[in-house]
Amino acid sequence: MENLNILKMGEKRLQTRSQEVEVFSNALENLVETLHQAMQKQGGVGISAPQIGINKRVIIYGFEKSQRYPNEKPVPLTVLVNPVLTTLTDEVVEGWEGCLSVPGLRGKVPRYLEIHYAGYTPSGEKKEGIATGFHARILQHECDHLDGILFPERIKDLKNFGFEDIVWANIYGQAK
Ligand code: NI
Repeated sequence: MENLNILKMGEKRLQTRSQEVEVFSNALENLVETLHQAMQKQGGVGISAPQIGINKRVIIYGFEKSQRYPNEKPVPLTVLVNPVLTTLTDEVVEGWEGCLSVPGLRGKVPRYLEIHYAGYTPSGEKKEGIATGFHARILQHECDHLDGILFPERIKDLKNFGFEDIVWANIYGQAK
């Protein structure tokens, strides 16, 4: 864990479509555990396998309270293998996002307000649900990683992209 590197924007592995998991093995459980530790260590609200250099369709997300997103309500800790998202509304909302692979930057990104998600747990059981708001935003952000897309590619107006310490007051109404 000490040497675990989170890949940063510009890396080809972050621009690559990740492969479906076909075998639900101990290796998969280990990957999930590594992702969980990396997410906690970095204080992230979600992370995907390609961000640690493993191009497999695995994401983990969730938090009780996040210093990176202080205004957001808790999202339950969830692991999804081979996730598939379906939009449930045409309604799109813009909100500020960051990413452990894009350190120090924030951007305003449009995301669907409500989605259905389906996938598998690490032990191979089916898992599905409906997510709205910030929960739906995280899911769309993490699933984008699995398709090789980083949030800056989704920003509509690049004037809404900037360094965290500069835009923080604009986002949260007070300096960081
Ligand atoms: Ni990210």
